Amino acid sequence: MEKRFRYKSLEDLVFEATTFGISFPLSENTRVFAQSLVVSGKTIPNRFVVQPMEGTDANPDGSPGPLTWRRYRRFALGGAGIIWFEATAVSETARANEKQLFLSAHTLDSFKKLVMEVKETCLKENGYVPYLVVQLTHSGRFGKHKKIIFHDEYLDGVAKIGKDHPVMTDEELDTLKYDFLKAAILSKEAGFDAVDIKACHRYLLSESLAAHTREGKYGGAYENRTGLLKDIVSLVRKEVDIDVVVRLNVSDFIPYPYGWGTDKQGTLDFREPRRLLLELKELGVKMVNVTAATPYLLPHVNRPYDQMGRHNPPEHPIVGTARLIQLSKLVKEVVGDDVLVVGSGLSWLRQFSAFVGAGMLRERYCDLVGYGRMAFAYPDFARDILNKGFLDANRVCITCSKCAELKAFNENCGCVVRDQEIYLPIYKRMEERIK
Ligand SMILES: Cc1cc2nc3c(=O)[nH]c(=O)nc-3n(C[C@H](O)[C@H](O)[C@H](O)COP(=O)(O)O)c2cc1C
Repeated sequence: MEKRFRYKSLEDLVFEATTFGISFPLSENTRVFAQSLVVSGKTIPNRFVVQPMEGTDANPDGSPGPLTWRRYRRFALGGAGIIWFEATAVSETARANEKQLFLSAHTLDSFKKLVMEVKETCLKENGYVPYLVVQLTHSGRFGKHKKIIFHDEYLDGVAKIGKDHPVMTDEELDTLKYDFLKAAILSKEAGFDAVDIKACHRYLLSESLAAHTREGKYGGAYENRTGLLKDIVSLVRKEVDIDVVVRLNVSDFIPYPYGWGTDKQGTLDFREPRRLLLELKELGVKMVNVTAATPYLLPHVNRPYDQMGRHNPPEHPIVGTARLIQLSKLVKEVVGDDVLVVGSGLSWLRQFSAFVGAGMLRERYCDLVGYGRMAFAYPDFARDILNKGFLDANRVCITCSKCAELKAFNENCGCVVRDQEIYLPIYKRMEERIK
């Protein structure tokens, strides 16, 4: 099946969608993105979100490195209402690798400076201050210490976890709550508006939701599996004066009993995610950023991409894009007005994403529209849509997956196609190394 993007017009794309029985929400009125929102008395100046995108370019101590600074300066100039800082470890053991950001007492000053500069730059260039979220994470089985909550038939192999690999104890998980709390206190000091208690992509807290086969207080029953995430949310809400938000896997799309939000076939079972969403709302979570699956097993579900080079998705990316859009709609229907919902996974739609995003806002599938890979390729996407009403087709992300390859090989990560000066040489070196 031809899975490569070939649409010359929005009509072409809409026609192809109908052949799959898909109907995207659409609006050519992109002025809807300019409407501000207020959360906890703070203004979110527009409806765009720069999604968390790991650059794998921190200094060894976890402070932002030169390319980290460059990326966030570009995002600040780009004018999105929310800049959602990438996965940032809550402890040294929680780190994915030695190039992942780590917020600690030791690195606090550098985060403070970066936050200040992002706010000032956006104010100077765009006339408003963005709302800044930091994504706090423990990388779990995909981290450098390969910490697991249970053995998983689908993901042990992917993460190179042997049969005898130890499972984290209940006591270790108890302690982890305080690592998140410590990082949330530092996030407040650094000047962030919100902390994201990351529960997606099968990193540690996401894995905990799927711990059907684990024994003890964090496994088995729904209350046990969701307890760790909810305890952390409650603890941070109680102890720190900062907004709490969650990037949530609505479903892992891994068959039960190894997946969250799925049946035995690995298709969506929304009953538990619905219950958790309502509980998170009760706990005062201000925003849910919708996502699904893990890029290590089902990258086409997590970030729909085109067939290019080594990359050959098993389904048409139009299907994956529509799935993520539908998940956003489901989440919004559950949480109503009290929780803001961020839609994800639009980059494959390229320049037409602006009209689908506007449609999502108009039809209340979400309150904010997030861009991940697009932000690497076209960091001022928000400014262009806000000022011109459309995206430049020559600058959009082409979902070639090269940024994801760089991340997978632990290289500094950005857009190899649209930001060639920096990332093409890095990509070429990586290719030489892995040949
Ligand atoms: C290189 C790379 C790094 C990413 N880093 C993160 C991250 O730190 N945290 C996160 O929640 N998602 C991360 N994602 C997922 C994106 O935020 C986003 O959900 C995904 O790319 C789909 O959105 P898009 O179609 O706009 O790219 C990453 C994706 C890529 C390709």
